[in-house]
Amino acid sequence: MSRLEGKVAIVTGAGRGIGRATAQKLASEGAVVVVNDVDSEPAHETVDLIKAAGGTATASLANTVDFAAAKEMVEATVKEHGKLDIVVNNAGITRDKTFHNLDDELFDFVLDVNLKTAFHTTLAAMPYMREVAKKELQEKGEVSYHRKLTFTSSVAALTGNPGQYNYTAAKGAIIATTKTLARELGAFRINVNAVAPGFVDTRLTQAKESGDGDFGIPDAMRGLAISMIAVGRAGKPEDIANVHAFLVSPDSDFISGVTIPVTGGQFGGMG
Ligand SMILES: NC(=O)c1ccc[n+]([C@@H]2O[C@H](COP(=O)([O-])OP(=O)(O)OC[C@H]3O[C@@H](n4cnc5c(N)ncnc54)[C@H](O)[C@@H]3O)[C@@H](O)[C@H]2O)c1
Repeated sequence: MSRLEGKVAIVTGAGRGIGRATAQKLASEGAVVVVNDVDSEPAHETVDLIKAAGGTATASLANTVDFAAAKEMVEATVKEHGKLDIVVNNAGITRDKTFHNLDDELFDFVLDVNLKTAFHTTLAAMPYMREVAKKELQEKGEVSYHRKLTFTSSVAALTGNPGQYNYTAAKGAIIATTKTLARELGAFRINVNAVAPGFVDTRLTQAKESGDGDFGIPDAMRGLAISMIAVGRAGKPEDIANVHAFLVSPDSDFISGVTIPVTGGQFGGMG
């Protein structure tokens, strides 16, 4: 199936986990993919995996917490690949602490990576998505095709999650972003939607005991989280990638402003 033939996409946080699986899925459906990650080695690995499977991808190491970097990434994408049709705002990180132990540094870092990257990347994309669509509307009376923005929120923003105030504040803002941009950009046939994953096996949810310190959750919490999933297993990055792919494809042209929980039927909030 080639639902995305001829489309150009940027996927942020695509060096690992959900972002990597999404970049691979979009490329497998025909999109040219710009793989954005602040970590060079995993970003290039994703590009190599896509190329090895016969797809087309390039890497961008932009840290879009900085708007100038986001602008540069988007401009380089359009220069190299001719246009921009799809942005998957997926970069994210956790730094869990109970609320009373939070400080500005932990708050700002998590808000920056989960929310500001999405704000900056989407803002930088506007001249190539909104303005191009507006020109089509003015010159031809209609927009040629739907362009797509998606975001990775989290089910934790819907349920709340102890120890994740900074993260849930950012992911809740992503849901609000989705609703507002859907209303602003709908006239230009830009669909804006989000995926809210539940517990997915990635670096973010690895057992803290075997992790690299900054990432992961206690092993006992992992067991508890998985026991609350109706389908009886943790999510895989591909489970989330499939939904991003649907939301950026023509199959979802009449869906906008929604956040789809992809949790395997999970009760309670994790991730
Ligand atoms: N794993 C889960 O259970 C889960 C649940 C809900 C939501 N999410 C969300 O899914 C998204 C992907 O997370 P994951 O679980 O695949 O984690 P991950 O750590 O495996 O991947 C995240 C990637 O984002 C990159 N990144 C960090 N800061 C960045 C920046 N400023 N710019 C670009 N890339 C950056 C990291 O280097 C990493 O490669 C995140 O937004 C996360 O919050 C994950």
